Amino acid sequence: MLISSKIDGGINGIIKIPGDKSISHRSIIISSIAQGTSEISNLLMSEDVMHTLNAFKLMGINIKNIDEKIIVEGRGLNGLKKPKKNIYLGNSGTSARLLTGLLASQNFDTIIEGDESLSKRPMKRILIPLELMNGKFKDNKGFLPLNIYGKSLKNIEYKVPIPSAQVKSGIIFAALNINGSTKIIEDHITRNHTEIMLKSFGANINVLNNAHQSIIDVKGKVELKSKNIEVPSDLSSSAFFIVAALINKNSKILLKNININPTRDGILRALKMMGANIEISNKKLINEELVADLKVEYSELNGCVLNDKMAKLMIDEYPIISIAASFAKSPSIFKGLNELKVKESNRLELIRLNLERCGVECKVSGDDLFINPQQKYHVKNCQIRTDFDHRIAMSFSIMAGLLNKTLTILDSNSIKTSFPNFVKIFNKAGGKLIE
Ligand code: S3P
Repeated sequence: MLISSKIDGGINGIIKIPGDKSISHRSIIISSIAQGTSEISNLLMSEDVMHTLNAFKLMGINIKNIDEKIIVEGRGLNGLKKPKKNIYLGNSGTSARLLTGLLASQNFDTIIEGDESLSKRPMKRILIPLELMNGKFKDNKGFLPLNIYGKSLKNIEYKVPIPSAQVKSGIIFAALNINGSTKIIEDHITRNHTEIMLKSFGANINVLNNAHQSIIDVKGKVELKSKNIEVPSDLSSSAFFIVAALINKNSKILLKNININPTRDGILRALKMMGANIEISNKKLINEELVADLKVEYSELNGCVLNDKMAKLMIDEYPIISIAASFAKSPSIFKGLNELKVKESNRLELIRLNLERCGVECKVSGDDLFINPQQKYHVKNCQIRTDFDHRIAMSFSIMAGLLNKTLTILDSNSIKTSFPNFVKIFNKAGGKLIE
């Protein structure tokens, strides 16, 4: 439980945001199946990432923590060993989908399982393409726990029907262990961290982009070479601080080395459309990922209309942009949010329910969310229901900064899945959260 109260003096200072969650997962997976030792710095030490790390330890990979660096002794494409017990992945959807692909083409069987929330998240989306590749599984009606019967797979050409980087990445990881070329076709942009990192480890992976789609061609059975990785800071975690600074008067923050990969920077584009004062400087590439410093100041925001294309570029940021929209000068409409229903919680429903509890006029119509901001809110119910969803918990802990009532964020322990020091860092910058 977290008690969140009004902020007086704004959010200020240089704020150190931890490593990117998506890139952290991939850095463990890819360095484990590369040949040789990789050193990872700024790895996100959150519960989700630790589940991926423990999975590889269970599969015989030697992983040590030395001087704030994670040292991974990779054993090559076929160097993983059968784990002695089931692999528990906690709350982590990314671990579940990516590992399902990777393990489908190993020469041993595994069972993966997760917590209550992960056990309700759809796995068919990754099982369908893997079964077309001859993958063999026993699922629990489309959910975890999942038996993965590792075997040699065949190439396919597959058009991913839903916008999902997790599905795309799962297929790519399976394809790495198959002779010949597997082609994945996407007609919507999703985050491309897997492609970027694999290429830098020497995988034979080529991406062909045209106006309507991108074709990812993976030629398998090419051994990867170890590489040191510096994980940039996470834009999705930054978004809580960016919005807190934008909506609270007298705020000015600087966030350094933030990953602004263009397949994922929708939140910056959307907030700028709303009139946010965000200055992006010092752009550079770290391990082929675009990073920059972000200076953010209090701004009077307008509402905005975001179409479904934007949804793909900022899928994790709808809880927090809904808070920004609640303090804008005009209404907002966010369209095409179907995928929000199958995240760590039904996020679309929880955003609506909790905004309503805070007194915000809002409506869900189909996959679209409408928010009509008011000058002042009369909180109807001080309890925020999170269903153990970290992003709902962090977003609504920022909402209270501008209300006249204290909010109680239920099940806020979930924050540890992606941002263990969130409360400490937020309070140091001027926030008022009590654990
Ligand atoms: C992620 C992809 C996204 C995102 C998740 C992390 C990844 O999920 O919501 O938090 O690391 O690949 P989908 O690809 O299922 O949309």
